[in-house]
Amino acid sequence: MPAKSSRSLVALLVTVAATVLYPASNAAFAADGATAGDPARGAKLAYTCLGCHAIADYRNAYPDYHVPKLGGQHAEYMVSALTEYRSGARQHPTMRSQATQMSDATIGDIAAFFATATPAKSGPAPVGTAPKAIEVCQACHGPDGVGILPEYPTLAGQHADYIEQALHAYKKGTRQNAIMQGFAAALSDEDIRAVARYFAAQKPGLWVPALPSR
Ligand code: HEC
Ligand code: HEC
Repeated sequence: MPAKSSRSLVALLVTVAATVLYPASNAAFAADGATAGDPARGAKLAYTCLGCHAIADYRNAYPDYHVPKLGGQHAEYMVSALTEYRSGARQHPTMRSQATQMSDATIGDIAAFFATATPAKSGPAPVGTAPKAIEVCQACHGPDGVGILPEYPTLAGQHADYIEQALHAYKKGTRQNAIMQGFAAALSDEDIRAVARYFAAQKPGLWVPALPSR
């Protein structure tokens, strides 16, 4: 296929994907003042990302855990996540190779695209009994895992095994963050399992965006 038509096919698919997957308009994006990025450019850039992040139950190999859900995640947090992969503060090899070449503008555009979806919201009441170890976390991540500020990631509905491995990574120091390394250090393995299960069970929570159909 000639380069020009394959490019426009991709552009078309992405436009369709953006309107089908993220119909919620820019209201939420404008409301929480997320990023100054260009969501249309971000939609094109996000096409490869959806190859992993839009597949339900897609897993990372070695170690084995679910690829994190990005649907409904705070755009500000996504900017810091991508910036941390770029700097090496987060060391996941695939995500590092995705992020190393990104300019700040590119990161902002991708975040702006994801921010066109309404951020995950709290449900009517937290689901289940909160484990004791979670009290300290709720000051930032909310009673049910919906981050109270856009810089704090939403954990509600995230895959439990992803949350667990993130907390172990902070403990080991393979994921560097001044705030979280201290909190994670205080958790036992049982605490980590319990808080991960609790946050993962919260509804409605984060979601896996569907792949555009071809
Ligand atoms: C080959 C599969 C794959 C591709 C392609 C991919 N990702 Fe990821 N992504 C992952 C995995 C696995 C993780 C979890 C890594 C870790 O443990 O830190 C992740 C983590 C992330 C996170 C952090 C989420 C969080 O809750 O902290 C963000 C943000 C992200 N990816 C965005 C993107 C963007 C944007 C792209 C495209 C430019 C992309 N990813 C492409 C597999 C992928
Ligand atoms: C003072 C606010 C604050 C408190 C308290 C706090 N966190 Fe965090 N948490 C953050 C911030 C900020 C980040 C993003 C750090 C980064 O960029 O790596 C984060 C990240 C995380 C992540 C990674 C999310 C992802 O998508 O990769 C997990 C899991 C997490 N926190 C769980 C907890 C747990 C469990 C506790 C309680 C033991 C806790 N946090 C307490 C602010 C806080």
